[in-house]
Amino acid sequence: MIARRDLAARVAIVEDLTPTCFRLELLCCEPVAASPGQFAMLRCAPGLDPLLRRAFSLAGVRSTGDGTIVEMHLKEVGRGTALLRRLAPGAPVAMLGPLGNGFTLGIAPGQRLALVAGGIGLPPVLFAAEMLAAHGSAFDLFVGASTAGELYEVDRLAAAAAVVGGELVLCTDDGSRGEPGFVTAALQRRLDAGRAYVRALACGPDPMLQALGRLATARGLEAELSLEEPMACGVGVCLGCVVELEDGRLVPSCKEGPVFPVSRLAARWRA
Ligand SMILES: Cc1cc2nc3c(=O)[nH]c(=O)nc-3n(C[C@H](O)[C@H](O)[C@H](O)COP(=O)(O)OP(=O)(O)OC[C@H]3O[C@@H](n4cnc5c(N)ncnc54)[C@H](O)[C@@H]3O)c2cc1C
Ligand code: FES
Repeated sequence: MIARRDLAARVAIVEDLTPTCFRLELLCCEPVAASPGQFAMLRCAPGLDPLLRRAFSLAGVRSTGDGTIVEMHLKEVGRGTALLRRLAPGAPVAMLGPLGNGFTLGIAPGQRLALVAGGIGLPPVLFAAEMLAAHGSAFDLFVGASTAGELYEVDRLAAAAAVVGGELVLCTDDGSRGEPGFVTAALQRRLDAGRAYVRALACGPDPMLQALGRLATARGLEAELSLEEPMACGVGVCLGCVVELEDGRLVPSCKEGPVFPVSRLAARWRA
């Protein structure tokens, strides 16, 4: 993992993925080693307004002739993400990262992972899927969105799953594409049908993660949740991102996470 410092980066690509989400690719002039689940803190504009950086999961990292492309997918929800969406190719962006831990990807031959993403929780799950595919590790993918128009990178997901003979299960809340309903219900149907997973890795909105925590706990399935607690510093200083653990301790999610085994987390993630 690279040291915690700003990487000099420039915008390579900003492009829409859905009506609300866009891809941001940054070109760094040095190697970047990162694991799925890690994130970066981006300054949204030159200068100090807005003062605080914003946290975004990495969706992928790849080398090019010019350096390293760091890929992120952002949902525009407020001022910071709106400013980032308007950046022009070539614009400099201060990027602190990669930060935090990552998902546990290692599995033994014959084992299979369940990768579960909801909404803008997809970036670290896509990163994991492509890395697992490259290593020939088996997984099924459960990807949910509110409606068909908010599902994106479906061809990339399908290609990664196909490499390892995995199933890509798409779900929409309104039933406009794939299986109607939540990804956790789709996972539960596979478990009920006898499919076995060594571990579930998930990122998405809190209610989805809590539902997964409940399901995994009830079925004795190991699960890792990538939490998105609001972060101000990203390096364990401000304590704005604390998460309560099962033993009552409060720990900074940016340093001890953002990925936590559900068994380590306070009961609310399983209740
Ligand atoms: C580790 C981590 C990884 C993340 N990965 C991604 C990612 O890959 N893609 C992505 O689009 N977003 C991601 N987020 C969320 C992202 O940081 C926020 O959406 C962003 O900070 C909002 O900035 P803003 O200035 O546009 O909105 P603000 O004006 O700051 O907020 C607008 C709205 O978004 C809500 N909001 C702010 N932060 C969060 C948050 N952490 N989670 C949920 N709601 C929030 C606010 O409550 C408010 O309602 C991640 C957050 C964390 C902590
Ligand atoms: S964001 Fe400051 S301690 Fe985690």
